[in-house]
Amino acid sequence: MRLPYQFQGLWLYFAKYDRKIKIKEKDMRIIKGVEYELLTEAVQSSYKEETNGYVLTCEIGVHEGNGSQIMLEEGRKKFQNFHHLGIDPYGNIQAGVSNKVKWNTKKDLIDYLEFHLLEMADTEYMDKYRNGFIIYDEKPHLLNRYTCVHFDGPQRTTDVLREVMFFCHRAHLGTTFCFNDYKRYKMDIIVNLCSVYGFRVLNKGRRRYSLIKEHGATG
Ligand SMILES: C[S@@+](CC[C@H](N)C(=O)[O-])C[C@H]1O[C@@H](n2cnc3c(N)ncnc32)[C@H](O)[C@@H]1O
Repeated sequence: MRLPYQFQGLWLYFAKYDRKIKIKEKDMRIIKGVEYELLTEAVQSSYKEETNGYVLTCEIGVHEGNGSQIMLEEGRKKFQNFHHLGIDPYGNIQAGVSNKVKWNTKKDLIDYLEFHLLEMADTEYMDKYRNGFIIYDEKPHLLNRYTCVHFDGPQRTTDVLREVMFFCHRAHLGTTFCFNDYKRYKMDIIVNLCSVYGFRVLNKGRRRYSLIKEHGATG
């Protein structure tokens, strides 16, 4: 139903007001937190010595964008020429997350020009972007090393292991990994695998677990 024009401005005002409240609620969720501080710490602790001038971070499983927003805020403070990838298929029947969530997330994160949302599953990403992600900044730049990765998508050990293998091969000294809901899969296997690639434990919470790469592969 189309409102008479006299009321349209009023409706817009309330729609915007409602949206502001929703964003505020989102802030509250971040504050109440489910150990988001471990994700903040993972970005803050990461570093990149040898650099082609670019820093790339990534989140698998974006949903409403809370984790990505934290990574974007921290990454902006810490790095120059910083880009962040969010990978999530949304609307995907298996994952069961609606397109409405995707639209709201895009709207909420629209001001972060460093954010690139890739609407696909982790496996598709790892296949399509195995050589890296290209950023056009006057000329194309291939970004193929990840400085911080948040694992928050599929929760089967085999799926997380596949992701971890991909990112271990594309890590550098100072790369950090943060895992959400790690008790749902066999985290001990993942920690052991990462240790072969030179990662050690950065922090361990009740819900999140983080690692940092301190030396080269040893296996
Ligand atoms: C727990 S939510 C992510 C929450 C988000 N990281 C945050 O901090 O607010 C899990 C998300 O993983 C996504 N997901 C499920 N399977 C996936 C897959 N194979 N690849 C990428 N994302 C996936 C779902 O669509 C869902 O949005």
